[in-house]
Amino acid sequence: MNTIFPKVKKNALPSTESSLKVKNLIDKLYDNEVLDNDEYLFILNNITNKDTDYLFKKGNEKKQVYYGNKVYLRGLIEISNYCKMGCKYCGINYKVDTVERYRLTVDKILKCCEEGYKLGYRTFVIQAGEDSYYTDERLKGMLDQIKAKYPDTRITLSLGERSKESFKALYEAGADRYLLRHETASRRLYEHIHPSFMSFDNRRLCLDNLKEIGYQVGGGFMVGSPTQTNEDLVMDLEYLKELDPHMVGIGPYLCHSDTELAGNMSGTLTETLIMVALVRMILPKSLLPATTALGSLHAIGREKALKVGANVMMPNISPTENRDKYEIYQNKICTTDTSDQCRNCIEARIVGVGHEIDLGVGDYIDFERKEK
Ligand code: 5AD
Ligand code: FES
Repeated sequence: MNTIFPKVKKNALPSTESSLKVKNLIDKLYDNEVLDNDEYLFILNNITNKDTDYLFKKGNEKKQVYYGNKVYLRGLIEISNYCKMGCKYCGINYKVDTVERYRLTVDKILKCCEEGYKLGYRTFVIQAGEDSYYTDERLKGMLDQIKAKYPDTRITLSLGERSKESFKALYEAGADRYLLRHETASRRLYEHIHPSFMSFDNRRLCLDNLKEIGYQVGGGFMVGSPTQTNEDLVMDLEYLKELDPHMVGIGPYLCHSDTELAGNMSGTLTETLIMVALVRMILPKSLLPATTALGSLHAIGREKALKVGANVMMPNISPTENRDKYEIYQNKICTTDTSDQCRNCIEARIVGVGHEIDLGVGDYIDFERKEK
């Protein structure tokens, strides 16, 4: 019997029996929205291609409960690829000297917002490496200008780890959401794919602080990181249930040849889709992007993610001339496209798989912003 996750142990049960158990566990997860760790592990260790059809169907069904076939769009602006961090998988970490560094001025960022707004986007995702240039003062200036011009939008920041005071100041200046993937909930794996100056505990502390301040918070992890086991992935599921984030970014690890992890295998499409479908059932109200990494791994990876539980897409609205420099992994899609090309492309892809675009701000269901 061919199980999907390559690191699985040989299965003790005959295949029909184990398939039945996998199916029963999927049903139990659908109903209860949580499983025990050994139950998650059983699924990961035993799921076959045939069983994924059922899992994917249930993931999609769970999404329908709250979101129907709606897909929310976020305009993504990659404002700087300077980074002081050393994530060993990432092609823009501070050690990589083959990438040309850039930083957008506030005027350029506002231009991107203008274009994004015209294309119908009502959320701007401001993303960068961990760039010390972006002090609270500078970011507050940027937030003020975006919010003044586009009061009917949401601003999502994705700028890495910062102090609680900084997160608070940016929230008060108008930021609504913050994306900070936990990357892996396994301390062992975290320490394997990050340098020793980066802290597993601090990353979690940041996520706790963001939630406490009142942001809509996004966690997330990579699938197929070097040495990742199914037990590690179970920790991601357990941690996400506990953190209860509003958004979860799940993408395959994609090997970059100029990083310390060069030469490793990348994650696979099916493994990633399995994790998207499971997270949809564990956090039914969450906003789950069909990630650019999935689209880069497979021509219709993002469409497949929509069909198993994802409900967000993040078209790029960065200036085209900078896009190839934000090379966190190689062969990234959309690097030669303009913002309106991405807009058309995304729409065709969404409609092509029977989904519909929602151009609202796309807040988490029932979310109310804490005011001062
Ligand atoms: N492959 C896949 N995902 C990556 N990220 C960074 N580098 C890679 C890579 N090589 C992801 C991380 C990070 C997000 C912005 O991109 O999860 O949080
Ligand atoms: Fe950018 Fe398809 S989304 S070209």
